[in-house]
Formats: sequence, structure tokens, C-alpha cells
Amino acid sequence: MVLNRMMKWKFQDTDLIILNEKYELNLGLKRIKHMTGVKKLVKQIAESLKLDNSEEISEIFKLHDIARNMKAEKQQEFIPHIDIIDIEKNNPVLLHAPIAAYMLRNSDLYTDNSDNLLYAVRYHTLFEHAERETFELKLLTVCDFCEYERKFTEAETLRKVAFENLDKAYEKMKIIRKEYYLKHEKIN
Ligand SMILES: [Fe+2]
Ligand SMILES: [Fe+2]
Repeated sequence: MVLNRMMKWKFQDTDLIILNEKYELNLGLKRIKHMTGVKKLVKQIAESLKLDNSEEISEIFKLHDIARNMKAEKQQEFIPHIDIIDIEKNNPVLLHAPIAAYMLRNSDLYTDNSDNLLYAVRYHTLFEHAERETFELKLLTVCDFCEYERKFTEAETLRKVAFENLDKAYEKMKIIRKEYYLKHEKIN
């Protein structure tokens, strides 16, 4: 089954639970908490910057991991519809980013102004491979990395920097992330 249009839903966290069941997304409580944590931090930073679309940004970015726990068979249904790069072919866990962007594009949350947001969702796992390091990409990746559920030492410091200077937080995040993943030999 390929999702054409997702159900229409209003901007509420409980709707994530509804979507989870309806589309068998397999999102556990920890993942849901992470996603709502991203939403919260994105919204706070967007509001502090007085962006007029902070609601839309935070709702779309909340869903960046909507396909993160999707079963492999189900992921396969999306493959014909998305462009994937080699590193994603070799690391299926990374597929959740292009799949999420595809799902969002075909959802009722998507508007003509959402392109930059979907671009950020699409590259949130591989921002080093993104052609454009946009403001939205920086916002999502920084918040993804240091939202309130992240308990490692640098997370709190990074959140503070993010409120003061997002570019600086993004550069700092890249360094911490690289060191962390090198140490743990993880890619995502
Ligand atoms: Fe992700
Ligand atoms: Fe995430």
C-alpha cells in the first residue's frame, strides 16, 4: 500500500499517536517523545526569531522521523517514488528521511510554502550531502540533535547557543556529531 494522502489532522501531538496506528509506523514512546521534543525546541527558536510560520515549521519538523521505525517491507513501497543516493542504499536506516519528505509532500500539512521545510526533512540525516545548507536545514538538524530529551552533556549548552546564534550552533553540532559518531562508529 502506498500512502497517497494522509488523513487530515489538526496540529496536536495526540495526532501523532493516531497516525502511528493508522499507518503502522511502529513509533515507540521514546521516538514520539523525541519528535515532540524537536517540535518544542523548533517552535521556541522560531518564535524567538519572530518567524511568522513558527507553527508550520514546528509541526512539519516534528514529523521528520515519522518513517524512522517503518518496517523494511513497507519502506520498499516508497522506493519507486523517491530519489535516493548511494549512501542511503547502503544504510537503509537513512531512508526514513526521503520517505518522511515524500509522505509530508503528499499530506494535508504540505503547502506551497513548505518546500524549504521538506528539503530540511529530506536531508536531516545527511546534511553534509545537501547542496544547500539552508536556515531550515540548520534549524531542524540542530534541534534534532539537542532537543530536550537529549541528555548528553553538550545538549544543554548547544540549546543555549542555538537561541543566541543558530549558525554557530550548527557548526558546533557538526563537530560534536562527528566526534560522537566516530567514537561509536554510527552513521545516524
Ligand atoms: Fe531522523
Ligand atoms: Fe530525529
